[in-house]
Amino acid sequence: MKKFLAAASAIVVACSMASCGAKKETSKQTTVKKTIGIAMPSQKLERWNNDGESLKSQFEQAGYSVDLRFSENDADQQNTDINGMLKDGVDLLLIAAVDGTTLSDTLTVAKEKNIPVVAYDRLIMDTDALTYYVSFDNYAVGKLQGEFVKSKLYLTSTTSEYNIEFVAGDAGDNNARYFFNGAYDVLKPYIDNNTLHIRSGKNTFEQVATKDWSSEIAEQNMKETLASYYKDTELHVALCANDSTALGVANALASDYKGKNTPIITGQDGDVANLKNIVDGTQSMTVYKNVHDEAAVAFEVCRMLLDGDIPTSKLAGEFENIKVNYDSESYNNGVRYIQSYLLVPNVITSENLQLLVDNGSYKWDSEKKYLESAK
Ligand code: GAL
Repeated sequence: MKKFLAAASAIVVACSMASCGAKKETSKQTTVKKTIGIAMPSQKLERWNNDGESLKSQFEQAGYSVDLRFSENDADQQNTDINGMLKDGVDLLLIAAVDGTTLSDTLTVAKEKNIPVVAYDRLIMDTDALTYYVSFDNYAVGKLQGEFVKSKLYLTSTTSEYNIEFVAGDAGDNNARYFFNGAYDVLKPYIDNNTLHIRSGKNTFEQVATKDWSSEIAEQNMKETLASYYKDTELHVALCANDSTALGVANALASDYKGKNTPIITGQDGDVANLKNIVDGTQSMTVYKNVHDEAAVAFEVCRMLLDGDIPTSKLAGEFENIKVNYDSESYNNGVRYIQSYLLVPNVITSENLQLLVDNGSYKWDSEKKYLESAK
């Protein structure tokens, strides 16, 4: 996977008693495993379970101890969890923030203790404790969703008009705006020239954000939109930012939508339930982000920091099978631009599901109809 061997340099702070100032004759070595504190947002969403598991096993295989905590989408809980990790003496923090704007005070403590902090998937704002960010190109995720709609509806050449509604993610998640903007920027020319209509008028991120990326809230919101604007009108596109919101929207459409056509529904993550909907035709696509690859890149950044090395732009080229771009000019956390390693997402439709089997993430079920987790 990588050109260099992660495990070789892995594990321990070895403190010979002699070199630590103890009596010369005490030559016994005390080995202390380094501990990584991994804070994940929630176990409610499939992807964070996969991320957590993948990260934990990589660090453990390389000889580190891992303190993995999920905070059930509660920002206060995540602060408590991270404070607990700092008290317990972790050597590095790897954090996928519930709300990237709420961690500044906690991370000041990390900085005082010289504990490196790496942001995982979601940027952490307003802190100078953050050194690196590992994620996918978030704006590109939204662009892929927008481009998919553009090509499905032949927006560059069509003379027809279509109705679209946007469903975005949680406002506290820094990524959510990037996804929305990426999709909106691609489709804006067609909204401006009246090829696409947003019947609800909800055309800003704030108006379409979905608390906690919750399927239930997305479902409820879509039911209300359908009742108010689509009683006798066709909906052609639900531009959903991710799979959990897409699931809620698909449920709302199944129960409350009376139109003749099947609306295009976009998504992100490749959750099992959504891949099933893609096979069944009730979701059109998902933007797949290989979280095992994301975890592998994060592992390498953390490993270098723990070894006292400085990850540089060169690191991005060192992964054999993972395409990673180094970017130090796009992600500003309010204090400075954060050095970012950004992986590349892929569009998955019913046509190319086999790719997910080939990359080892999923396997076909016994009837070779639906995908299930490869584990
Ligand atoms: C985003 C993440 C997405 C999606 C979403 C919901 O920050 O990048 O992959 O899972 O959160 O948790």
